[in-house]
Amino acid sequence: MAQIIDGKKIALQIREGIKRKALALKDAYGITPGLAVVLVGSDPASEVYVRNKKNACAMAGFYSQEITLPSSTTEAELLKRIVELNSDNMIHGILVQLPLPKHISPESIIEAIVPHKDVDGFHPYNIGRLFAGLPAPRACTPAGIVELLDQSGVDIAGKRAVIIGRSNIVGKPLSLMLLERHATVTICHSRTVGLPAIASQADLLIAAIGKANFVGAQMVKNGAVVVDVGVNRLADGSLVGDVDFHAVSPCAAKITPVPGGVGPMTIAMLLKNTLMAAELACLARGV
Ligand code: GUN
Repeated sequence: MAQIIDGKKIALQIREGIKRKALALKDAYGITPGLAVVLVGSDPASEVYVRNKKNACAMAGFYSQEITLPSSTTEAELLKRIVELNSDNMIHGILVQLPLPKHISPESIIEAIVPHKDVDGFHPYNIGRLFAGLPAPRACTPAGIVELLDQSGVDIAGKRAVIIGRSNIVGKPLSLMLLERHATVTICHSRTVGLPAIASQADLLIAAIGKANFVGAQMVKNGAVVVDVGVNRLADGSLVGDVDFHAVSPCAAKITPVPGGVGPMTIAMLLKNTLMAAELACLARGV
């Protein structure tokens, strides 16, 4: 039976460490890490995510600003808010919650954020730095997965990693982060021919496709480590991942649950990126 990777517990430990470092930064330099979270419209899931991010900031002793704008907000209006936040010294990180309403281009908004405040790691400059193996804010969910594996004693180097999903938020950046850690990486997606056969060769299988219970036991090698990034709401209101947890647990060595696996790590990494942005701002100002 697989060992369950407790993302909630690991994330809380990381958040405790971040809280201590934020206090130290304040004591030494009088600077409090500040995060602006921008929400356009009233998507219920996004509202929950934004509230969680705001609460996590408060618990870590960060300053946070929540900017809630109506769904009728134009791209020009949103860009203006971003420009203001770019030059706000209290704010070290800017996060624009996705998805945005259809009439706003997420690419234009992301590119308008100054790269050193892009705590989501979505700006093309930061993605380029990740591609080149240079330090930069790293996308929170994939960074959280790598951290989760490290803290669970999973050795990534040399392993055959298969990622199911090629999104800009998870699949693509995760492939680069695992490659950086010397894994042999394959990305599968909706057009992949023979996906189950490829998945079943993985030492490390990561599911990030948004399809409830997509990964069954036949896709998992005995002794594999299985990471479930999916968050799918079923008709009965229950929350399940992309992995059929009960079917896969008997053959996996380790597995992340949903909820309580990858999700809590995303917020921990957001706080980590914001703290780092504040520390770098200190250095840049020479304080
Ligand atoms: N929507 C879903 N995941 C994310 C994320 O990591 N960052 C932002 N900004 N929006 C999201």
